[in-house]
Amino acid sequence: MLRLIRGATVAAMALLLGACQLIGNEDAPLTTFRPAGPNAERIDDLFWLVFWIATAIFVLVMGALVLILFVFRDRKKEDAREPKQLHGSPKLEVLWTVIPALILAVIAVPTVSSVFELTGCEDDSMRVELTGHQWWFEFHYPDQGVDTANVLVIPAGEEVCLEMTSDDVLHNFWVPALHGKRYLVPGQTTLLRLEASQPGEFWGHCAEFCGLSHSLMRTRVQAVSRAEFDEWVAAQLAPANLPADGTPEFDGYQVFLNKGCTQCHTIRFDDEASSNIVLSELFNGPDLTHFASRNVFAGAVLPEGGETHEQALARWLADPPNVKPGSFMPNLALTAQEIEDLIAFLESNT
Ligand code: CUA
Repeated sequence: MLRLIRGATVAAMALLLGACQLIGNEDAPLTTFRPAGPNAERIDDLFWLVFWIATAIFVLVMGALVLILFVFRDRKKEDAREPKQLHGSPKLEVLWTVIPALILAVIAVPTVSSVFELTGCEDDSMRVELTGHQWWFEFHYPDQGVDTANVLVIPAGEEVCLEMTSDDVLHNFWVPALHGKRYLVPGQTTLLRLEASQPGEFWGHCAEFCGLSHSLMRTRVQAVSRAEFDEWVAAQLAPANLPADGTPEFDGYQVFLNKGCTQCHTIRFDDEASSNIVLSELFNGPDLTHFASRNVFAGAVLPEGGETHEQALARWLADPPNVKPGSFMPNLALTAQEIEDLIAFLESNT
């Protein structure tokens, strides 16, 4: 029995310490305990309020239980104490109804006000349209005319309003440092207000099971200064450079045009005639103009484990469904040379 209690105590302590190490741990990018903006802070404040109330109740109830167990424990007959026996006590019943009701009322006030505060956006906040796809996030900045994928760049200290929907199934956009989870629903628009107080990079994840590669549907939010954001927008609006004839980049451009990439992907060149046409809305892949300006790709899954952008791209282009099971990007059976050229072309798209 003693061994069992000891084992259970060790297991409970391990769980508790395991949970504590998430607080402030740099290796836990999806922790909710490091809020980096007013919306996430609001949720965090609410969590700690409820946590401490619950902890106080736990300590009080468990303390009373242990005390009663000790005082009224089974002793030798002569000094045994029988607790007072009672059946029905209006005073006690009122007490244990009123106290929990008061506690719930205290929790309800900030909870309900937070729920309303966190739903919807300020009228003048910058809009970004977010569309979920199996398995990547598409961002469109309607006022700036910028299209990008997986990496959301926002100005720090300003509220950005995500107008979210889905192209296929339910997804859920979750960047724990900046806000809670919210669904992306096909045929509906949901709103999510995002604000990062300081510049930084924040990790996000799809939080609704959406098919085979749900676990590989991630995102990054990069908060930068207003000046850097304006620079980024200007760079994104610039057309892609058409590579010069005879360079590896040009060979890669030819692979891009002739091996089927343009069925799903767009790259916006200066020359109208060289612009690619997405042949089918059904196979709508990320806009690859300025692809190399994104530090992550393929659903923000690559590069991983210390590999370079190029190494990850080589692995991805060789066999996409091997990296992301179920990927709609097929294995195009590219040769090593074609992959090398394609990488040179894509990496020149800064
Ligand atoms: Cu999208 Cu899970």
